[in-house]
Amino acid sequence: MTAQFTRGKLHVLSEPDEVAKLTRALRGVGRKVTLVPTMGALHGGHRELLRRARRIQNTVLAASIFVNPLQFGPGEDLDRYPRTMDADLQKCRAEGVELVFAPTATTMYGEDAQVTVHPGPLGDQLEGAVRPGHFAGVLTIVAKLLNIVRPDYVFFGEKDYQQLVLIRRLVRDLDLDVRVIGVPIVREPDGLALSSRNAYLTPEEREQAGCLFLALSEAAERSRAGERNPAVLVATMAREVGATPLAALDYAAVVDEATFEPPAELDGPARALIAARFPSAHLIDTLRLPAAAG
Ligand code: PAF
Repeated sequence: MTAQFTRGKLHVLSEPDEVAKLTRALRGVGRKVTLVPTMGALHGGHRELLRRARRIQNTVLAASIFVNPLQFGPGEDLDRYPRTMDADLQKCRAEGVELVFAPTATTMYGEDAQVTVHPGPLGDQLEGAVRPGHFAGVLTIVAKLLNIVRPDYVFFGEKDYQQLVLIRRLVRDLDLDVRVIGVPIVREPDGLALSSRNAYLTPEEREQAGCLFLALSEAAERSRAGERNPAVLVATMAREVGATPLAALDYAAVVDEATFEPPAELDGPARALIAARFPSAHLIDTLRLPAAAG
């Protein structure tokens, strides 16, 4: 194929220049590239992203593994974030990934990087209000990854729904030439959305963590039954989390799926979002609200 690339084999590169050179060479011989950005600690949700990404025919499947310090605030879990590179590479190999980009913080940001991507007002709401600066960190690393790899397609999970909306805006507003594809959440049998942070939960917290999905499901049920007032759905979700001893509600919200604005009344595709703090982990989840039945 190209001098450095053998089809069907996993290539692991850490230098941005090497990756840029390789993907440029691949594009030069007509290959498209699909990227799945991750922070590692790969679980079933990531595997689903990789499987969906692999369905795009005739592309090289690439994943990035990088715990991005810029998206963690002071006092957040940067130091204890799980790092499981060997297991991650095995999973990538099993899912047919051909290129893993695993840079270090120094190769990504050097000693003195100063310019970041400003997410705009949406970056300060909901998850952005709970984690100030988080979305600037996410959009900066995503812009850098897209610029280095130059993929034709990039895949993200819908669990981080506000992140997905902001990344779509990043691509639109900065005229980036890539197609963004969102992938539905993978859940545990009790509904808990798969997340690398679930590993922090104590057995007791884990038992109660299903309350996020329960809260979303109750809101969805009321919406299906004809409730059109978002405030009622938000109160329903808050009640469910409020009744869970180890959970503290960070936010519950209903937004218009396209604009991310809170609608005065539900009259189009809408989404419920929820976040709660357990003593050991901050968890988020989301569900599309069905239109009223009949
Ligand atoms: O969703 C994540 O895992 C991260 O926020 C991302 C998109 C890989 C950026 O670091």
